[in-house]
Amino acid sequence: MQNKVSIIGAGNVGSALAFLLAQKELAKIVLIDIDKDMAIGKTLDIYQACSALGIDCKIYGSNAYEDVSNSAVVVITAGFPRKAGMDRAELLAKNASIIKDIVKNIVKYAPNSIILMVTNPLDVMTYYAFKLSGFDRTKVLGEAGMLDTSRFATFISQKLNFSIQNINSLIFGTHNDKMFTINRYINIGGFPISLFMKTKEIKKLIERTKKGGEEIIKLLKTSSASYAPAASCFRMIEAILKDKKYICCSSIYLDGEYGIKDVCIGLPVKLGKNGVEEIIKLPLTAKEKKYLLDAASNCKELIKQLPF
Ligand code: APR
Repeated sequence: MQNKVSIIGAGNVGSALAFLLAQKELAKIVLIDIDKDMAIGKTLDIYQACSALGIDCKIYGSNAYEDVSNSAVVVITAGFPRKAGMDRAELLAKNASIIKDIVKNIVKYAPNSIILMVTNPLDVMTYYAFKLSGFDRTKVLGEAGMLDTSRFATFISQKLNFSIQNINSLIFGTHNDKMFTINRYINIGGFPISLFMKTKEIKKLIERTKKGGEEIIKLLKTSSASYAPAASCFRMIEAILKDKKYICCSSIYLDGEYGIKDVCIGLPVKLGKNGVEEIIKLPLTAKEKKYLLDAASNCKELIKQLPF
C-alpha cells in the first residue's frame, strides 16, 4: 500500500470516507480532527471493523497536521454541515475561517498533494482553497458534481428500473439550485434518454436533485448526508490513485473556458494521477451556456464574501 490519503474532519463524511477507503485497501489513511479523541476513536472503530472483515487496514487518527505529509490526496471535510432549513451559503463565514487554517497546513506539510474539497458552500470553498494554496488549478478539486450526478442517476435508475450501471448522466454548474443537466448528453445503456423519458419528467428529477441534500437533512433532522458524499469522494480518489483517466463532474477553477474566468464551478473533467488532466469542452447551445454563466455569477457573488 504505497498511497497515502489524509482526511481533515473525522465527522460523518470524513469517517464514512475513511471506512470506504479502508475497505478497498487503496491507501494508507490519516484521519485528522480538531477533536483528537474523535479522530482516534473513529480510527479504532474502523480498524476493528476491518478486522471483522479480514481487511489489512492502515489508518491513523490525529490532530497534528504534520501527519498529512507525503499525502497524494488531502480531503477537506472539516466544518459545519447544514441544519434543516439552512442554505449552504449560510455556512460561508464559519467554514471559511476553518478552511483558511487547514489550507495553510496542507501547503506547509503536503505541498505536492491534490486537495479534494467537500466542505460547503462547495464551489466557494474550492475557490478559496485554490487561491490560498497557490497550487496549480489541476490539483484543487471540489466533490459536488460527482455527488449531484450520483443523486440524479439514482433517481433516473429508480424511475426507469434500469441498472445504475446503465445510467450515464452528468450534473453541471454549482452545488446549489444553479446546477443543471443537458438532456442530450444523458444516455441509458448507450441510448438517448429521450427514448425512455419525457423532458417534463427529467425536469422533475433535476428539481429533486437540486434539493437532494435538503431532502436527507429533513429526514435525519440532526445531521446531513454522509454516505453519498463519501462515496463520491472515493470514486474521485480512486481515479487519481489508479490514474484511471475517468470522466466525472468536478468543481474546478476556470481560466477562460466557456468564456468564464476566476470562479470554480462543476464541469466534466478527466481525472488521473495528476488531478484534473483535462476540462472536457462540450459544444453548448446559447441556453445551456446561459445556465453555466448563471451558476458562475452566483458563485462569484458568494466569493466576494470570502475573507482574504
Ligand atoms: N480542523 C479539523 N477538524 C475540524 C475543524 C478544524 N479546524 N473544525 C471542525 N472540525 C471537525 C469537527 O470536529 C467534526 O468532527 O469537522 C468535523 C465535521 O463533521 P460533521 O459535523 O459530522 O460534519 P459532516 O456531516 O461530516 O459535514 C462536513 O461536509 O458535506 C459537507 O456541508 C457539509 O460542510 C460540511 C462538511
